[in-house]
Amino acid sequence: MRMVDIIAKKRDGEVLTDAEIRWFVNGYSNEDIPDYQASAFAMALYFQGMNEEEAASLTFAMAESGDQLDLSAIEGTKVDKHSTGGVGDKTTLILGPLVAALGIPVAKMSGRGLGHTGGTIDKLEAFKGFRTELNQNEFIRLVNENKIAVAGQSGNLTPADKKLYALRDVTATVDSIPLIASSVMSKKIAAGADAIVLDVKTGSGAFMENLEDAKSLANAMVKIGHSLNRNTMAVISNMDQPLGRFVGNALEVKEAIETLHGKGPEDLHELSVTLAAHMAVAGGKASNEKEGRQLIEEVISNGKAVEKMKQFIQSQGGDPSAVDTPEILNTAKFIKDITAHEAGSVETMHAAQIGKAAMMLGAGRATKDDEIDHAVGIKLHKKIGDEVHEAEPIATLYSNQEDTAHVEEIVRNAYTFVHGKSKKPMLIYETIYK
Ligand code: URA
Repeated sequence: MRMVDIIAKKRDGEVLTDAEIRWFVNGYSNEDIPDYQASAFAMALYFQGMNEEEAASLTFAMAESGDQLDLSAIEGTKVDKHSTGGVGDKTTLILGPLVAALGIPVAKMSGRGLGHTGGTIDKLEAFKGFRTELNQNEFIRLVNENKIAVAGQSGNLTPADKKLYALRDVTATVDSIPLIASSVMSKKIAAGADAIVLDVKTGSGAFMENLEDAKSLANAMVKIGHSLNRNTMAVISNMDQPLGRFVGNALEVKEAIETLHGKGPEDLHELSVTLAAHMAVAGGKASNEKEGRQLIEEVISNGKAVEKMKQFIQSQGGDPSAVDTPEILNTAKFIKDITAHEAGSVETMHAAQIGKAAMMLGAGRATKDDEIDHAVGIKLHKKIGDEVHEAEPIATLYSNQEDTAHVEEIVRNAYTFVHGKSKKPMLIYETIYK
């Protein structure tokens, strides 16, 4: 095979074979195919797209390009959940214990945050002593013992995706639905998932800002999953405003624990129960979403979900007493309210700007080597649809810097207000099964 012929074929809108796609992935990983040919190929893919079979071939070839987790020693259906990322999205912290409390194994590999979105590993490290570097044996043992373990991404998982993603980043070819879908799904397949529940976000804080693109991405990922025999479904959810009321690692942990107690904010509770119900179905514990919701609400009200969280935190070296008193995690020195200049109600919020403000306080990373401060973040007293009185706090900053004027301005500008009432946004737009 010659790369030039494969590029020409895709440039002319033809369908590539599985063998051609694999040949490209192997050749590019081994450095037999140079970046200039891979760039031309990525651009051809960007314009011509890929059909379902081609996307599945690319996904599988990238999943096979490095280590693949063998979770066969874990009993039961391993259901993974993936969110395309958003601000204040702490659902993994909630879903893990909820689903594990039903007896479904949660063997989760998670990442760190970059830019305006946070990462589960950073949030979990708000618990002093919590270890996320687990070797495969320990990871499997913990899941078998407790039904839950969360490890940082380690080893050489999907190196072909890493290399291709870096190339796409500098060749203006990231925004291609089949390429994004293959990239995300290759990581899920390599991480050993039997079934996958996807939370595809749309809105001002999401990768896919408009709903139509989010639907296309969700459809593409669900089809890839089924082509590769992984039971896959997707929920499309709103990210026009942060999820819940807190952004920042320890603050989000506290809110996740409140949600496990059944005392979380409405949007976070609803999305968590919905996703967990779908995971219960995929994991074979419920026959439909309604039954799944009942089971999940039960482990919230009988305290089993919180107990599971404690067991999980302790098993990975964290201090479980912080689950009872999460306030001890919030050690920010300066607490400052941002108040409304006039009365009205919140019409819009720019979620990515709130994420950026939290990052500037130290809750996130601008570059991947930045250190983060787990204690800092933002409480959002007001969200879209909420009424605001003059001089009432709209948000509170938790900071370890005394001067936060620059951050206050970003938070204030992330809100728009109207006189009179405004409408609460929809939380879940659609559910895609196949
Ligand atoms: N996230 C991914 O993992 N891959 C993409 O291509 C885009 C976003």
